[in-house]
Amino acid sequence: MGRSQLQDSRAWQQLLAQRADWGETTLAGLFRDDPTRGERMVAAACGITLDYSKNWLRAETLAALLELARERGLEAQRAAMFAGEHINRTEDRAVLHVALRAPADEEIFDQGVNVVPEVHAVLQRMMDFCDRVHAGTWCGASGKALRQIVNVGIGGSYLGPEMAYHALRRYRVPGIREYFVANVDGAALEAVLAELDPEQTLFVIASKTFTTLETMTNAQAARRWLVAALGEAAVERHFVAVSTNDAAVAAFGIHPQNSFGFWDWVGGRYSMDSAIGLATMLAIGAAGFRDLLAGFRAMDEHFLHAPLAQNLPVLLGVIALWYNNFWQAQSQAILPYAHDLRRFPAYLQQLQMESNGKRVDLDGVPLTVDSSPVIWGEPGTDGQHSFYQLLHQGTRLVPCDLIGFVQPLSDFTEQHDLLMANLFAQAEALAFGRSAAELRALGVAEAQIPHRVSPGNRPNNLLLVDALTPFSLGTLVALYEHSVFTQGVIWGIDSFDQWGVELGKVLAARVDEDIRGVATHPHDSSTQRLIARYRQARNP
Ligand code: F6P
Repeated sequence: MGRSQLQDSRAWQQLLAQRADWGETTLAGLFRDDPTRGERMVAAACGITLDYSKNWLRAETLAALLELARERGLEAQRAAMFAGEHINRTEDRAVLHVALRAPADEEIFDQGVNVVPEVHAVLQRMMDFCDRVHAGTWCGASGKALRQIVNVGIGGSYLGPEMAYHALRRYRVPGIREYFVANVDGAALEAVLAELDPEQTLFVIASKTFTTLETMTNAQAARRWLVAALGEAAVERHFVAVSTNDAAVAAFGIHPQNSFGFWDWVGGRYSMDSAIGLATMLAIGAAGFRDLLAGFRAMDEHFLHAPLAQNLPVLLGVIALWYNNFWQAQSQAILPYAHDLRRFPAYLQQLQMESNGKRVDLDGVPLTVDSSPVIWGEPGTDGQHSFYQLLHQGTRLVPCDLIGFVQPLSDFTEQHDLLMANLFAQAEALAFGRSAAELRALGVAEAQIPHRVSPGNRPNNLLLVDALTPFSLGTLVALYEHSVFTQGVIWGIDSFDQWGVELGKVLAARVDEDIRGVATHPHDSSTQRLIARYRQARNP
């Protein structure tokens, strides 16, 4: 692979030089040299304080990283996104999820059409529908109120609503319970149906394309279940759709009036604040959803206007890129210290890896540097008792984002201090560890010392948020959306397509034909044999 323009840029060269000169610099040393570091290397906006002091950054490193973002055209690309330019080049589409949270009087154009009025029209229909469901004026076929909501969808039509349902547990409308069916494995649907009373169940079929195998298969099975219990005429009261594909929704038997649309300029993984958020709105009510949108919007404004050196998404983005491209970090951990935020790592996996898991640049030229790291994580303190051992003493570099909330997350308020004590302690332990000298001073036997030393110097960001609310959840999601964007711009890739997921879908359809015996497709010897074994076991 040849060298790229990216690697030839002045800032990239400076960063390479800094990396080469890094020597024995440690976080402990950086803090010793500058006792004000923990106060200085902090940025705050929209109720989020980012402490990035425990990173392998000198002042000149950060300056070069920000210069790199500038050289790569971040400011112009950011303006292009907000202006509706077709920055999703491979699909020739605008990327306007920011329009989903724009106030009604703002104008954002896609091909000469102001999209904001359409956004607000759908929002109004969603709010009216939710109010009716909550009031019981939109009820089931037998007249019972609908209190069990099932979101049938996958990927971006699932991960956001499910994450938000758990995250906003304390903001839920009393009496409403939600369920999520994503996997084509019938076990997912079976387990949910077992909990439901058909007379009180509302299915939200959420699919941008309304062609996704998993969602359509589960939706048809759910429809059969409901019809068996309540008859065909019940479908229109118990099924609504969220989609851009009106024709497919109608073909499924859902009336257009019961369908909530969005647009091709909303990527699936950027859609939780579109009509895909219908389940979220049903869970937390229209006012709560508006607060969520306000949070997204606040972070958009910050991303647009704050200087790069104080811009939270930009800081998160370039810091992650520093480890990824200059220290060869393979992964990044997302560690929310909030049980209710336990699905946030899974949500960010799609957001980041489907966006930036790319191998060529916008011109189709193979990248000569790594793109997205592997994103993973679990909530603290759970993870402390499983994989933190590797974080503290393993051989791999895993930069971590730790996320915590000042306000208690439950009525067991005394437990919150313990949770937060663990959060701060982990950030400290990762950064500074425990040396052999400290262990000796504690009287630890010499033979044990190598096993007990925690070398520290493990970089981490700490995001401290006031409270976990609809507003703050919006700010957090938008923060990572724009951080992903920042990294994608620096790599010069299309962060908004996802061609890599297509092949598996095509091959699965072919193998399905082989399994059902309706066609015989050529395969490699391994796949051939696996299919044959499976068929034989299923039909002995
Ligand atoms: O297969 C990947 C993907 O296309 C995601 O990008 C998307 O979020 C998901 O499938 C679901 O797609 P849809 O909303 O069209 O059912």
